[in-house]
Amino acid sequence: MNLTTRYLGLELKSPLMPGASPLAMRLDNIRKLEDAGASAIVMHSLFAEQIEGNAVAVSRHIERWQDTFAEATSFYPQGQDYLLGPDEYLDRLTAIKTATSLPVIASLNGTHLGSWTDYARLMEKAGADAIELNTYFFATRRDESSAEIEDRVIEIARTVRASVQVPIAVKLAPFFTSPVHLVGELENVGVNGVVLFNRIFQPEIDIETFDVVPRLGLSSPEDLRLRLRALGLLRDQVKLGLCCSGGVHSAAEVVKALLAGADAVQIVAALLRDGPDTLGNILTELKLWMEKFEYTSVAEMRGALSLRNCPDPEAYERGNYLRSLQLWRE
Ligand SMILES: Cc1cc2nc3c(=O)[nH]c(=O)nc-3n(C[C@H](O)[C@H](O)[C@H](O)COP(=O)(O)O)c2cc1C
Repeated sequence: MNLTTRYLGLELKSPLMPGASPLAMRLDNIRKLEDAGASAIVMHSLFAEQIEGNAVAVSRHIERWQDTFAEATSFYPQGQDYLLGPDEYLDRLTAIKTATSLPVIASLNGTHLGSWTDYARLMEKAGADAIELNTYFFATRRDESSAEIEDRVIEIARTVRASVQVPIAVKLAPFFTSPVHLVGELENVGVNGVVLFNRIFQPEIDIETFDVVPRLGLSSPEDLRLRLRALGLLRDQVKLGLCCSGGVHSAAEVVKALLAGADAVQIVAALLRDGPDTLGNILTELKLWMEKFEYTSVAEMRGALSLRNCPDPEAYERGNYLRSLQLWRE
């Protein structure tokens, strides 16, 4: 059975890897992930605010992840250890490269062009095999159009593309009006892959304390569906690598992501909750599924149910909107 796949120009032994998170903070975790069959290691992000010394924004990032830290067990360090300074991040990257033979993908996170993008070059120098660019941004201003926001994402990608040789991926938020067009534009500026999707922090109102707090618990398999549509729509319209991130908790979700069109699949929540060995169990279940349905390679599965190949393309588009509403029963 051939599980190999190509993503960001990297030949990977399987489509499964841990996503950007504190999972790669500890070298013993990295070894466990490698033993379990991970095909690459994705580091957590180095944030523009850390590079530019914005302490308030940095602590806001820590707080946002705090709830999800609380949900998981002891597989990763505490929040305050999570946000390494820029030099420490690069040192950690080099240490990870020494500790594993797997490709290492560093992650750089920022919203507006600035000196932080120079770190892509430093990450490359420190040994990164590829760079994931996370441009997490939520529009809040009346005078900012969707086109401006998209142009900014493209400009950041273009700038980083021009400064490094290694492949780059852009990790996108799910709520762009025309994601296929945006991904096409990213491809045009030389981006090698996209990661679909970031999870979005949503505000929660505490009715006892009158606080508004950003909340994000660990994902559930339901979160996958937003990704499936994007993968299915993109598969036949772009050539760059497609990586699914969000809602993958078992082999069933991996199968779905591959059938929709993913080249690679990242897992975070399930590994944080159940430990790095879970990746190995998912890989075993994936092989069993492939055997049962007589697939001999991941390449055969990839995109077998993309928009072009699926029996009912409407399901990807308006989702048989009217029929779904008519058939709805309590
Ligand atoms: C505790 C935690 C920390 C994370 N840190 C980062 C990060 O530094 N950079 C990033 O791009 N994504 C980060 N993510 C998002 C994950 O990479 C992933 O996109 C998201 O969790 C969805 O995947 P999942 O459903 O498998 O958890 C983090 C997620 C969690 C739960």
